[in-house]
Amino acid sequence: MSEAIEVYEVEDRTFPPDPAFVAQANTNDRSFYEEADADYEAFWARQARELLTWDTDFHTTLEWDLPFAQWFVGGQLNVTANCLDRHVEAGNGDKIAYLWEGEPGDTRTITYAELLTEVKKFANVLKGLGLQKGDIAAVYMPMILELPIAMLACARIGVAHSVIFGGFSADAIIDRCDDAEAKVIITADGGYRKGAASALKPTVDAALAAGAPSIQNVIVANRCDLNPDMVEGRDHWWHDLMAAASDDCPAEPMDAEQLLYILYTSGTTSKPKGIMHTTGGYLAQTAFTHKFVFDIKPETDIYWCAADIGWVTGHSYIVYAPLTNGVTSVMYEGTPDTPHKGRFWEIIEKYKITQLYTAPTAIRMFMKWGVNEPDKFDLSSLRVIGTVGEPINPEAWMWYHEHIGGGNTPIVDTWWQTETGGHMISPLPGVTETKPGSACHAIPGVFAELVDDDGNVVERGGGYLTIARPWPAMLRGIWGDPDRYHETYWSRYEGRYFAGDGAKLDDDGYLWLLGRVDDVMNVSGHRISTTEVESALVDHSAVAEAAVVGANDELTGQAIIGYVILRGGSEPSKELGDEIRAHVGEKLGKIARPKTVVIVPDLPKTRSGKIMRRLLRDVADGRQLGDTTTLADPSVVAEIAAGAAAGSDED
Ligand code: WTA
Repeated sequence: MSEAIEVYEVEDRTFPPDPAFVAQANTNDRSFYEEADADYEAFWARQARELLTWDTDFHTTLEWDLPFAQWFVGGQLNVTANCLDRHVEAGNGDKIAYLWEGEPGDTRTITYAELLTEVKKFANVLKGLGLQKGDIAAVYMPMILELPIAMLACARIGVAHSVIFGGFSADAIIDRCDDAEAKVIITADGGYRKGAASALKPTVDAALAAGAPSIQNVIVANRCDLNPDMVEGRDHWWHDLMAAASDDCPAEPMDAEQLLYILYTSGTTSKPKGIMHTTGGYLAQTAFTHKFVFDIKPETDIYWCAADIGWVTGHSYIVYAPLTNGVTSVMYEGTPDTPHKGRFWEIIEKYKITQLYTAPTAIRMFMKWGVNEPDKFDLSSLRVIGTVGEPINPEAWMWYHEHIGGGNTPIVDTWWQTETGGHMISPLPGVTETKPGSACHAIPGVFAELVDDDGNVVERGGGYLTIARPWPAMLRGIWGDPDRYHETYWSRYEGRYFAGDGAKLDDDGYLWLLGRVDDVMNVSGHRISTTEVESALVDHSAVAEAAVVGANDELTGQAIIGYVILRGGSEPSKELGDEIRAHVGEKLGKIARPKTVVIVPDLPKTRSGKIMRRLLRDVADGRQLGDTTTLADPSVVAEIAAGAAAGSDED
């Protein structure tokens, strides 16, 4: 087993589903698993037909030409017809799609019928600016209703969106717009975060001043009255364009494999990968998992996924799956501690939320803030609570179980990735006996297996997580780079999808996710590439060389530690360390700013010149140093461990 995988202690507490929950659950026996094991294509075909409305039925469930999959071949459907029109046609137009809560406490509700009208109008706006099926629209927005409207409007007319997280920098916008040759960027003046309006439009302006020549038009929604500069002919106010737009825009049937969106994610190189998702398979799997993992009852539930739509969790489980299933969702603009640390629990009480979906980092932060906060509010409406993004430690799981779930609300720890499109490993709340910290089992129709270094299947113990067969919501490729797609995911173990995660199977066959085994860090549930941060560090004029590692961090899972060697002529100092950290924040966005920059005289390298990050991780975690015998100069690590020349820490 690889040294990168640390196997922690066995957890033997178990929590069977509550009989009252089982009795009402959308699925409460093993029939889905049995059906999928017997004939998994037939299983997914049935789900796709039952959960979605097709304009033309598909003739072939799966065409698999490794590593390229096509699901539901010959089928035609429109995503927005599934998310909107069919609910309105069924008489549910007045049902609320989103209960939107602004950070300052202002609110907006939008029904399915109203959302459909907005989507049709904005689709016409995009057409009016010359966008056509097959084009790419970049989206850089805060958590306001215009964001799902923009995404759905793209989907309605076959324009693929590329949502760029609102915390990313101008450089990140340029890279993503250039890679996809996006024609338009949809943004807002700003959004509310941590009690103040935070501007977004100036970042778009900076990006367009420096690059992204493919962008011809900018559409700006007004959220905060920030009065941004508007470039004549290029920039347009959302409200002006919408005022003039027709609401007549029929849903055009799309092929099941029509590109729905691109979403960039960090890999092991410095260039983010544009993960491609298509229409039919993506919608089928996200709708299936949403309905059965969260036990969604659209008639009565008020569901809240507290992620940002800028990440895949928001794409799948704030926008596409909840609307396909016709449930009412809460959408929250801001941060969990504004204006007070009980904000999440206040929202749950206010809307009588039935499902909450959040990240382990958030739960650990809530733990730190104390049980007083949730105790002030009535959380008894919660029926299912979920987590995603990183392994959840058993302590945090138990706290979530006791203090948020009231001791009997099922917890669904869902493992999946930007690449997988939807849940892959998760308990089913009416079926699975859970263990704190384990994501339990692959969902029906997904075949997760662990393998060792040589690719042999591991039945018990540690291994690398692979998926042995294609699945409907799988990525269809990396935008513009089919070779990298094959190499990254399908070449390490021929015929298997390599997830990049280490995992363990315990004696009862439960899966325990153990974190990344590649050079990707997971900070507060966000994927950040060590190489990307290293490139940003050496981009600073004083830095000659850099090595980045993710150190264990109680709150954020991992924290970014950058070790840098200075160029001749630069003197180590705290100020320089601060400046280097800030530089990374500017290049990549705040989430990628190292927590600590350590200025070192040298870096540990093998004789062939490879930086030994493992040793730096040991130093960062304060562990006993691992094997240093392959080092070119073993004294380097001792020197670093003994205390670096200077550095800079997050305040
Ligand atoms: C990690 C987020 C443990 C994992 C949906 C994966 C998890 C990466 C879990 C994908 C979980 C996600 N338990 N680890 N329940 N969920 N991860 O692409 O390392 O932002 O490879 O997708 O997050 O992150 P991404």
